[in-house]
Amino acid sequence: MCGIVGYIGPKNAVDVVLQGISDLEYRGYQAAGIAYLQGDEFSVLKRLREGVGSEAVDSSALMFAWQKEHQAVSSLCVGHTRWPTHGKNTLENAHPHQSFSRRVAVVHNGTINNFDTLRRHLTDRVTLLSQTDTELVAHMVEFELDAGHTFVDAVKRTLAQLQGSYAFLFVDRKNPDVMIAAVLGSALLVGIVDGGGVIVASDESAITRLTKRVIDVEDNDVLVIRRTGIEDSKHIDRPVMVSPDEIDCQGFDHIMMKEIMEQPRVVRVAMNMGGRLHLKRGIPRLGGFKDHLHTLSKLDHVVLVACGTAYHAAMIGARYLREIGKIRNVEVMIASEADLSHVRSHHTAVIAISQSGETYDTKCVVEEAKLKGIFTIGVVNRPGSWIARATDCGVFCGAGSEFAVASTKVFVSQLSILYLIAVYLGRQRGLSVPVGRRLLKDLVALPDALEEVLEDEIFEQCKWTAENMLSTADFIAFIGRGIHYPIALEGALKLKEISYIPCEGYPAGELKHGSLALLSPSRPTVAVVPSGELTDLVVTGVTEAALTGSPIVVICEEEMENRMNDILSDSQHSIIGVPAVPHYLSPIVAALPMQLLAYFTALKLDREIDRPRQLAKSVTVG
Ligand code: M6R
Repeated sequence: MCGIVGYIGPKNAVDVVLQGISDLEYRGYQAAGIAYLQGDEFSVLKRLREGVGSEAVDSSALMFAWQKEHQAVSSLCVGHTRWPTHGKNTLENAHPHQSFSRRVAVVHNGTINNFDTLRRHLTDRVTLLSQTDTELVAHMVEFELDAGHTFVDAVKRTLAQLQGSYAFLFVDRKNPDVMIAAVLGSALLVGIVDGGGVIVASDESAITRLTKRVIDVEDNDVLVIRRTGIEDSKHIDRPVMVSPDEIDCQGFDHIMMKEIMEQPRVVRVAMNMGGRLHLKRGIPRLGGFKDHLHTLSKLDHVVLVACGTAYHAAMIGARYLREIGKIRNVEVMIASEADLSHVRSHHTAVIAISQSGETYDTKCVVEEAKLKGIFTIGVVNRPGSWIARATDCGVFCGAGSEFAVASTKVFVSQLSILYLIAVYLGRQRGLSVPVGRRLLKDLVALPDALEEVLEDEIFEQCKWTAENMLSTADFIAFIGRGIHYPIALEGALKLKEISYIPCEGYPAGELKHGSLALLSPSRPTVAVVPSGELTDLVVTGVTEAALTGSPIVVICEEEMENRMNDILSDSQHSIIGVPAVPHYLSPIVAALPMQLLAYFTALKLDREIDRPRQLAKSVTVG
């Protein structure tokens, strides 16, 4: 999604902002631009992203090349990475936008809902050069300036006419010592730069190279920012959570692979290396819960809301909360479809699960829950994000920044955290100390099993399977049952989003009710075959698929490998045997081969693995 960066101060603002743009591009964007002050004029440089697949060239690379030749120098610069909402991906629509006399330049994240009305008012007064909502705002500020208002008042008067959500950064060529930041429902951070000046950005990744402390701009703030800091600020800074090391591949070919490899550590971090576990008492120590014991102990209805991969984590989390947490009524809602109309505030909690903490659809449900007085809990990876701040309490994932668009390590982290929450709530509801202790010990042992999955044998089997059985497919079905059905959905999502091969996840028992008709020798089936009472039911689904000629990929526990080989002896197949772990943790183990299958299929197809087409890392629009 869109990104903002701006700098004012003694460093060369053009260089600072170009680096910031490069660090923001992981979020997903299609064009980027900067406006920098030269003399008493703004100069504007914009570039579309060029090429596709591994041939793609980032806007920042094109602008770095330009800067190498032109050596532009400035003390004030604002920049933007654009994800189109109003108008196509053209240079005219790319930000920054300028007002009619080029006095004001602005960059903007978010959407202005009364865009049509504003546009109609302005069409008689100015020549509009773009199709965007942002350009209108630049003109409106200049009209207010022309009416005699100060820069900050002109901005405030303009904002008062807007409906929607936004983070804005404004500059005025007649006020060269100032940037104005304004926020409503969108992230913006301010950092005092080591060595002088101030950087403003919508994401820590664009800030972390320059300072280790930031201030979150709050909703309805309109901040005057000078090279020494925020004017009249009572804001409190906090540490930057993203480290510069996280932004690159650290020796891996792709960030996605780096993040896949981090997963054993991520589970350990979810337990705070053991610090979050009170093994003697069989209960997790969840600091975010300590002021809400009474509310949590009374909960009998929990609604989990999330999107995409986080929704798949929510589906498994719902089982944890029901079966381990002993919550009587647990619902899972896709955030964009969520309906809280039947949900009472009494003894109820909405748990919002989000890596970024910025996802628009999830945010809306949190807002609705708060409006209804429902207790809200966040399971968020990004501290300081909107959902982290808006919820009544929460448990941070602490998985470190996730940059690849395809979520991997945070999925595993979310599942670990939901498991801990379930044990916590369960212990408030009669789950015994020994059972709580056993469940926690099971989680302690999990990282070793994940390490095994990522070692040579299983890793290579996934690679071979992806290259030889999946990369030539024109459709792939994923099947699972019970607690593994969400893993089938997640496997399909992961593979489709980075390989662009159509994939669907099904409950294993549903194939025969229609989707079996899709299968054929060019359309493989990937099945999670569980150990235990569901084995035979899933094997039936696998056998039905195999009879269509569909090549079969099975993810099962190692001890089932021989049996599956026998069952599938007449079909093209690949068996990926993974270490056995207790039932509730088996989806986490099964998720890793799914990620590897997706990665190696996309690699074989020469896709842009870390930044798949048409997708953004954080979906901040509705
Ligand atoms: O930041 P969030 O966890 O709220 O994001 C939710 C989804 O947009 C995200 O999980 C998406 O589905 C991923 N690209 C999947 O890999």
